[in-house]
Amino acid sequence: MRIERFLTGITTSGTPHLGNYVGSIRPSVGHSLRPDVESFYFLADYHALIKVHDPARIQRSTLEIAASWLACGLNPDRVVFYRQSDIPEIPELTWFLSCVLGKGVLNRAHAYKAAVDKNTAAGNDPDSDVNVGLFMYPVLMGADILMFNAHQVPVGRDQVQHIEMARDMAHSFNHRYGEHFVAPEAAIEDHVATLPGLDGRKMSKSYDNTIPLFAPREQLKKLIGSIVTDSSAPGEPKAVDGSTLFQIYQAFASASETEALRQAYAAGISWADAKHLVFERIDQEMAPMRAAYQALIDDPAKMEAILQAGAAKARAIATPFMGQLRHAVGLRPLQTHASASAKTVKLALPVFKQYREPDGRFYFKLQSGDGKLLLQSGAFASPKVAGQTIAALQAEGVTALNSSTVTLEKGPEVTESDIAAALQALQMAKEAKPV
Ligand code: TRP
Repeated sequence: MRIERFLTGITTSGTPHLGNYVGSIRPSVGHSLRPDVESFYFLADYHALIKVHDPARIQRSTLEIAASWLACGLNPDRVVFYRQSDIPEIPELTWFLSCVLGKGVLNRAHAYKAAVDKNTAAGNDPDSDVNVGLFMYPVLMGADILMFNAHQVPVGRDQVQHIEMARDMAHSFNHRYGEHFVAPEAAIEDHVATLPGLDGRKMSKSYDNTIPLFAPREQLKKLIGSIVTDSSAPGEPKAVDGSTLFQIYQAFASASETEALRQAYAAGISWADAKHLVFERIDQEMAPMRAAYQALIDDPAKMEAILQAGAAKARAIATPFMGQLRHAVGLRPLQTHASASAKTVKLALPVFKQYREPDGRFYFKLQSGDGKLLLQSGAFASPKVAGQTIAALQAEGVTALNSSTVTLEKGPEVTESDIAAALQALQMAKEAKPV
């Protein structure tokens, strides 16, 4: 079974709403339960700084979004769930990538171009009120994705250009420095609805037309009551096409429930009754999660601990990988043998060495890229069993330390997480090959 790596981020710039739930949280939680998928979910708080300059809002949004994901069923033990700003390797990689990407590519990025067009239309300087963060947005996003060599990135259509740019960055870097990155693909879920907001436009913070995901029952009722409808009277047949209320219902209801509402529309259901039905249906889905959400919001220390544990998992990958990349570009200790070829990069990776001692028995050791002893095996009767133990370590990571039939001893001052990091680095190097 090929394990696909999925990765997606959500910008911590506001309170999560039903559009985020339908478009991102719900399908992602569904994905994370698949056995053939390894998922990375993160809170894109560096991205939030581009637009939000209110520190309290950044912090609050981070808590709310993290709590929403968990309340909606994301299991942090099954996935890597972390906060972008806990991974210092990401801004470092952003810099590496910005040095292989043509500036012209960023000039063409939709978000930047839209800002420039708006300024030009208003007769302002093209870059008026555009910060460098907005310009660099796609590079930071590329670093998010390439840091973990994600294969698939579930995103909305508006983000596809960014994934293409990330592929560009992967190719340019690989071309110059050897095969380090997997070229990611956008996983666009066509069946996932873009939810309209209260006024019928796409539900979005920028339009101020959202329904907060965990609005209390009374507020939810009021907001659904305020969804725009046409002026047809009770008893008059109503059109489902273009009905915001109908589209929102459809995102929550089963096929048969949706069909029933379609018929009710044709039969002239009143807008008040239709709104009541939609409210009860959404509330039925959200009510059980509301309590879990509130408990997490009320215990930020617990939420913080969960994110720290996630950051440790993410950094077990990011730190050794970044070490490999630093070496590749030439940021190396001065005594290391200088060579520009990609082969030297391989030398920096940890290695397993198998050998036979004069006692006639078989051994292996794991060494770091700079020759430090990480793990020493005891004696194996056959090279085959030694090889199998190595294979188990490569496939299962440190958990295989306990199942070995022969003692495996850590090198001096080596911790289990050093070994985990070395095994991860080997794994990453193996996966990075087929671009
Ligand atoms: N740009 C994404 C959004 O606005 C958020 C994001 C940041 C992201 N980094 C990412 C999504 C990496 C996918 C992968 O929705």
